[in-house]
Amino acid sequence: MNNIVLIGFMGSGKTTIGTLLAEKLGVTFTDMDNEIVNIEQHSVKEIFEYQGEQYFRDLESKLIVDLLQVNNQVISTGGGVVLRQENIDNLKKIGIVVFLHAEGDQIYEHIKGDRTRPLLNGDDVQEQIKTLLEQRDPKYLSAANIIIQTTGKSIDNIVDEIITLL
Ligand code: S3P
Repeated sequence: MNNIVLIGFMGSGKTTIGTLLAEKLGVTFTDMDNEIVNIEQHSVKEIFEYQGEQYFRDLESKLIVDLLQVNNQVISTGGGVVLRQENIDNLKKIGIVVFLHAEGDQIYEHIKGDRTRPLLNGDDVQEQIKTLLEQRDPKYLSAANIIIQTTGKSIDNIVDEIITLL
């Protein structure tokens, strides 16, 4: 099986959906944020705080290059991978890129109260989501082979939809 790469905004369900998708397909699940946390032995929040965003982005790009070597995996990415065109180009080589599209309101419901995401920690998180979505949605769309609308759907439905579209 070709790898499946899940992309989408923070809180769009990439990790939850990826875990179940990999289980149903009987393949390995790799979560890029978790890999980076394991390598660095620091949380994403700590890496952003002490080393800065560019350092984290470099780790992300390097991990994507390593993932060019793997097969038969479901890979969940961090929401910012599409910020670098080189990442998009490599993700397309790694496998089928599935964009989990979520509306701003749904994203806010998922992430509100969660203080682990360094880019969504301002006073007006809904406004931050709106601004970042406007910047990033075109990039997710340009990277995607398959687009899944997640709003109002259960995790099971989304996973089954992905499987039928592969
Ligand atoms: C980020 C998304 C996060 C994590 C980091 C930066 C982003 O991953 O990589 O906080 O720029 O959108 P999730 O999409 O898994 O929350």
